[in-house]
Amino acid sequence: MQVRRYPHQFRFQLIAKWLTETYAPCKTADVGGGKGLLAYLLNQAGWDVTVIDPVHQSLPPKYKDISLDKRVLISDRDSVKRIDEPFQEEMTKDYDLLIGLHTHGSNIKIINSCNKYKKNFVLFPCCVIDEPIEIKSNINWFDSLENYGKELGMPVERVTLNFVRQSTGIYSRI
Ligand SMILES: C[S@@+](CC[C@H](N)C(=O)[O-])C[C@H]1O[C@@H](n2cnc3c(N)ncnc32)[C@H](O)[C@@H]1O
Repeated sequence: MQVRRYPHQFRFQLIAKWLTETYAPCKTADVGGGKGLLAYLLNQAGWDVTVIDPVHQSLPPKYKDISLDKRVLISDRDSVKRIDEPFQEEMTKDYDLLIGLHTHGSNIKIINSCNKYKKNFVLFPCCVIDEPIEIKSNINWFDSLENYGKELGMPVERVTLNFVRQSTGIYSRI
């Protein structure tokens, strides 16, 4: 039987669920976190998440709770902590975990800084364009990114979640 995959727009709900099953609640930065829905969902689960993104955006007015199949409104009085600046490697020392979903241009910085400060990362990358990484002709960009972390000696694992389009991530747990 074929399992139905969720639309891409529900990735935040699925990634939040997987994160809460994989890590204990911790001080987290969502780098390039956009509107902050992932941060909001994790904070609802007892996490302490800050969005680091130079473009200030407000939380969406609603989202779907996919486990209850129910629309949930987000009050315009609700917010998540934000640093409206480009991500810098030194910021990593203030967190236990860095998340990057489609954070193009910052994936290598996130891996490097987590290696330097001994922190964990979760990346669901969409590309490595403009990243300082060498792509060998016989290795695709995703494997190259995963290998980059492994070659630094980090315990990099891979996960694929149940939503359409690019649904595979890499993560570390130290
Ligand atoms: C493709 S969007 C991804 C947004 C969200 N994470 C998602 O998965 O829908 C990339 C985000 O990275 C942010 N961004 C761009 N340059 C950045 C930087 N140097 N540091 C942190 N965020 C950055 C953009 O403002 C944008 O919100």
